[in-house]
Amino acid sequence: MDWPMPTEPTTPSVMDQIVSLCKRRGFVYQASEIYGGIRGFWDYGPLGVLLKNNIRDWWWKCMVECPPVGPDGDIVSMVGLDSSIIQHPKTWEASGHTATFADPMRRCTKCGHIIRADHYWDILVTTSKWFNDLIQSFEYAPTPTPYPALTTGPLLRWANRAGKKLAPNMALVRNPEVTLASLATRVNGQPTSPPDVREITQYLATEQMHMTGLQDPCVLCGAPMGTPEQFNLMMVTYAGTTQSAENLVYLRPETAQGIFLNFRNIIDTNRIKVPFGVAQTGKSFRNELTPRNFIFRSREFEQMEMEFFCPPDDALKWYEFWRGERMKWWLTLGIKPENLIFRDHATDELSHYSKATVDIEYKYPFTAPDFGELEGIAHRGDYDLSQHSKHSGQKLDYFDQELQLKLKEQGASAEDVKSKSRYIPNVIEPASGLTRAVLVLLCEAYTYEKGRAGAEEWFKFKPKFAPVKLGIFPLVNKDGMPEMAEKIYMDLRQRYTCEYDPKQSIGKRYARMDEIGTPMCIVVDGDSLKDNTVTVRDRDTTAQERVSVDKLHAYVAAKLEM
Ligand code: GAP
Repeated sequence: MDWPMPTEPTTPSVMDQIVSLCKRRGFVYQASEIYGGIRGFWDYGPLGVLLKNNIRDWWWKCMVECPPVGPDGDIVSMVGLDSSIIQHPKTWEASGHTATFADPMRRCTKCGHIIRADHYWDILVTTSKWFNDLIQSFEYAPTPTPYPALTTGPLLRWANRAGKKLAPNMALVRNPEVTLASLATRVNGQPTSPPDVREITQYLATEQMHMTGLQDPCVLCGAPMGTPEQFNLMMVTYAGTTQSAENLVYLRPETAQGIFLNFRNIIDTNRIKVPFGVAQTGKSFRNELTPRNFIFRSREFEQMEMEFFCPPDDALKWYEFWRGERMKWWLTLGIKPENLIFRDHATDELSHYSKATVDIEYKYPFTAPDFGELEGIAHRGDYDLSQHSKHSGQKLDYFDQELQLKLKEQGASAEDVKSKSRYIPNVIEPASGLTRAVLVLLCEAYTYEKGRAGAEEWFKFKPKFAPVKLGIFPLVNKDGMPEMAEKIYMDLRQRYTCEYDPKQSIGKRYARMDEIGTPMCIVVDGDSLKDNTVTVRDRDTTAQERVSVDKLHAYVAAKLEM
C-alpha cells in the first residue's frame, strides 16, 4: 500500500533529549512552571543566561566594538543603542505594524481553539491526539485496479468508540453514515486518483458537502475550522492611570523601530556620518498563535538587530556586504557550514517594507533535512525613515557633504549635486534572534556517545561560548587539597567563569562538567602540594595533562582561544 501518508513528525527524539538536558542542568525552564507553565514563555536558568550573554557579548563585540572593514576598505562606523520597549503608539502606525503585522488565523467553530492557518496541517499531524489515533484505522483492501480501496469498517468502529472521546465534534463521529457514504462516492467516482490522507481527513470532517465544501477538522475536537482571518501579533498594555483606549500602548514586536526613532538624535549628538550602523539587542514580544519547538518561536524573546544607514545608490553594495559578513559571523560560533544556508525571499514573500531579503537558515533537529530561519538580512530602502518623517512631521533626511564634494569633482550638474547630496538614507538590516541563537548552539553542541566515560550526552560548545569555562576541584576534600584548589579558583575566576566543586567522586564531577559543556577541569591532588602541578582534563578527548600552576594561565588561555 503506497498511498501518500502525512509527513512523519520529524524525529522528536533528539529535540526531546536536548530539552530534557536543558531542564536537568539549568539552561532553560518553562516559565511559571509551578503554575503549570504559560505557553510561549521561557526562563533562562543559571547556565542558560551565561550562554545567552556569551553570544550577545560576542555579537556586540563584532558589531559595535570591532565592526568589520567595509567593501571599500574603510572601517565600518557603528554605535550602540538601548531604546525603550514601549514607544509612542504612532510608531507602530508609521512602521505598518498596526495594519499589517498579522498572521492568518483560524478558529474552531465549536471549541474556539485558534491555530495559525499556514501551520494547520503540520500541527494536525504532529500534535493532534485524535488524528494520530484515527490514522491507525486507515486500512486498505486490494482491488482489481492498481489502487487499493479504503476500508470503512475500522473507521466506523473508531467513530463509535475512540472517536467519541477524542474528537466528539467531528462529522465522522456525529454522523458516520453520511460522512462515510460521501467519502465512498468520492473514492468510487474517481478510482484512478484516490484521495490522499489529507483529503480523506477532510471528508471525515464534512457533513454537508454540497453546502460547505470540504472542511478542515479542529486539531482538538474535530469540528470544522472557520475561514482564515488576520490576527495582529502585537501585545497590548496600558501606560497611564486608566486602562482606556488613549492609554493603550504596544510591547515592541522588534527592536528595530527604536533605532529609526533615534536616527536624528544619533546624527545630531555623535561625530558620525552616513554610512553608519546602529546596533541594539533586547526583548521583543509577539503574540504568536502557535509558539512551538521549544524556544524557537516564543511570545517573549530577544533580538540582535542592526540598522545600517547608507546612501541610496550604495544600498545594494551594502546589502551584499552584510549578507556575507553575517554568514561569516555565524561560522565563528562553531556552527558547521553544512548546517547553515542562505534562502532568498521570493518577491511575493517580501515584507511590506523590503526591497530584498535573504534569510540565514539553520538545520534544526525539528526541520531536518530542511532548514529554518535564524536571521533575516533585509534591504528596507528608505521605508522606515520616510514613514516616521511623514507621521511625526520631523525631517529625517541627511545632507551628505562628502558626496556633494565627490559629485562636484566628478563634474555632475548643479541640479544632480543638489538632488543627490540630500537624501533619506536607505537601510540594510541584519536582524537575528538571540534566543534562537541559544537554541542553535544547544542543537549544534548536543552530542551523544553511548558508553562514553564521563557523560554519554553532553554539550560540545566551542570553548568561547561555554557557560562555564573551567571546573576546579580538589581530588579529595581534605589534606590541604581544597585550600590549594580554592586559591586557583579565586585566581582564575577573575578572568573566566569557573565552578569550584569539592564533593562527590571525581568521575561524577567530570560527568557533570561534560554535560554542561565545560571545556576543561583542573584537579588538585596529593602530588600538587609537592610539585605545584595540577591535572587538566579535556572535555572532548577526556585526555589528562599535568600542568605547572605557574603556567596555568597561559595554558588555559591558549586552550580556551580567548
Ligand atoms: N526587524 C526585522 C525583524 O524583526 P523578523 O524576521 O521578524 O525581522 C528577526 O525577526 C529575527 O528574530 C528572526 O530571524 C528570528 O531569529 C527572531 N524571531 C522572530 N520571531 C521570533 C519568535 N517568535 N521567537 C523567537 N525568535 C524570533
